[in-house]
Amino acid sequence: MVKAIRVHELGGPEVRKWEDVEIGEPKDGEIKVKNKAIGLNFCDTYFRNGFFKASAFPFTPAVLETGMEAVGMVTAVGPGVTGRMAGDLVAYAGYPMGAYAEDSWWSGSLLCQWANALGATVIGTVSTKEKAAQAKEDGCHHVILYKEEDFVALVNEITSGKGVEVVYDSVGKDTFEGSLKCLKLCGHMMSFGSSSGAPDPVPLSSALLLKSLSLTSPNMIYYTITRDELLQTASEVFTNVAAGVLRVRVNHTYPLSQAAQAHTDLESRKTSGSVVLIPDGS
Ligand SMILES: NC(=O)c1ccc[n+]([C@@H]2O[C@H](COP(=O)([O-])OP(=O)(O)OC[C@H]3O[C@@H](n4cnc5c(N)ncnc54)[C@H](OP(=O)(O)O)[C@@H]3O)[C@@H](O)[C@H]2O)c1
Repeated sequence: MVKAIRVHELGGPEVRKWEDVEIGEPKDGEIKVKNKAIGLNFCDTYFRNGFFKASAFPFTPAVLETGMEAVGMVTAVGPGVTGRMAGDLVAYAGYPMGAYAEDSWWSGSLLCQWANALGATVIGTVSTKEKAAQAKEDGCHHVILYKEEDFVALVNEITSGKGVEVVYDSVGKDTFEGSLKCLKLCGHMMSFGSSSGAPDPVPLSSALLLKSLSLTSPNMIYYTITRDELLQTASEVFTNVAAGVLRVRVNHTYPLSQAAQAHTDLESRKTSGSVVLIPDGS
């Protein structure tokens, strides 16, 4: 038996239960991992409240973002597995869910840093001065406090009326329309998240899109479908982390048993950077 967070019904952070579960031994092609640290992502709140559909109840949530994500130690290897053995330290990210457990199976700011390293002029929006200071440290050239300032007007001013090449928008409902207005002719809108709610639909005929804009709703998971794609992507990320180009900011850690509090803090905008859940004894 191991302890795991399980969700039996949709609802607020309180629907998470800390329960005993039987994991069993790994089957063909599987490894068993004792999780040491588990990443929290906004998508976890979506599976809990029904914005995203879980395939069955009860389920043990984990994390999209990079998907269901954790780092841990291999404790057992199933038949047919090569290249991994007990004692290996492994990291995983992706489906299926299940990282919110002491053991499991496995079959904002980085974007800013990476764009800066690639030579882009980066304009960011945040709600507080504290977050603005972090964004500056992360290589954001211009930081806009979008609760106090008109970010569309400021982007227009910073770009001398031209607009920007691309917007990466993870806030959704509250910023979507403004983000489209910030784009230059033939600009690209990457609407990759919706922490304030799903954006309202925009008809193709809308004046907002008449600048030959392209609009996409990308999902990390679909860029790492094959093992080769996953290895290539992961290698690029970790090479940049090792070289100091990307600096991971773990601003908040919680015991795994207090995942509900972590959800509350994430949803009430108290967090920034990475939020990590630590199983007891790790
Ligand atoms: N497509 C993908 O592959 C992918 C990957 C990762 C994440 N996402 C999505 O991106 C979004 C952000 O996720 P994240 O993990 O990166 O978390 P995050 O940036 O830490 O998201 C929380 C932040 O969103 C902002 N926010 C604006 N309105 C909010 C509201 N009404 N309630 C709560 N927060 C609000 C807050 O920042 P301010 O206070 O500064 O406004 C808050 O700190 C989520 O929708 C997530 O599903 C998508």
